[in-house]
Amino acid sequence: MREDDADRLAAESLAAGDPTGWFDRLYREAARGAAVVPWERTAPHGLLVDWTAAHRVAGDGRRAVVVGCGYGRDAEHVAGLAFATVAFDISPTAVAAARERHPDSAVDYRAADLFDTPASWRHGFDLVVESMTVQALPLRLRPAATAAVGELVAPGGTLLVIAAGRGDDDTRPAGPPWPLSRAEVDAFATGGLTPVRVEHFQDPEGVRRWRAEFRRAA
Ligand SMILES: C[S@@+](CC[C@H](N)C(=O)[O-])C[C@H]1O[C@@H](n2cnc3c(N)ncnc32)[C@H](O)[C@@H]1O
Repeated sequence: MREDDADRLAAESLAAGDPTGWFDRLYREAARGAAVVPWERTAPHGLLVDWTAAHRVAGDGRRAVVVGCGYGRDAEHVAGLAFATVAFDISPTAVAAARERHPDSAVDYRAADLFDTPASWRHGFDLVVESMTVQALPLRLRPAATAAVGELVAPGGTLLVIAAGRGDDDTRPAGPPWPLSRAEVDAFATGGLTPVRVEHFQDPEGVRRWRAEFRRAA
């Protein structure tokens, strides 16, 4: 299976009205060596690493959550900065693989759906890292996904969003992924969150990315 097979699984799932079912199918195929997870990397996302270094981010035991954690690369980075870290993914197979890949991890890996998180997580985390999960969901789910991510941020807490970008005038993407427009990034500033900075990057290959930081007042 190659990247286009992941596209096929996604297309089947979306056609069946199930926008998230393909993630676990893909991770299960990958677990038996029959698929490649296109976003699989061992290193944490460079935009996360640069941000934590530039702002000298240190957890000091405060709580962090990583949304749609996949195999756990970003969660391990965050836990390494002394955050008490929860990381969740809708795919139980991904969560099991994350635990296996990081047997000595301090991260609390959980299978959970962004749209149905435990009530105790509401406003529960001092740092929320959302990297490339909202963009993996269809546009019609974007407002709900954006709001659900923001709900996780505690008073005084920070949300970091990393996502592929599209121009405001670009045609609506067919997806997945569904890159975010500037307006869709700005939309994270809702439910009491305010923007701290919104940065735009362009890879040498021309891929646009957002890195955006939001804060909830203490
Ligand atoms: C493009 S991948 C990115 C994974 C990871 N953030 C990384 O950078 O390696 C999107 C991830 O979000 C997960 N996901 C999708 N919908 C989700 C939902 N509703 N709740 C939790 N996780 C979800 C998928 O299973 C997948 O692991």
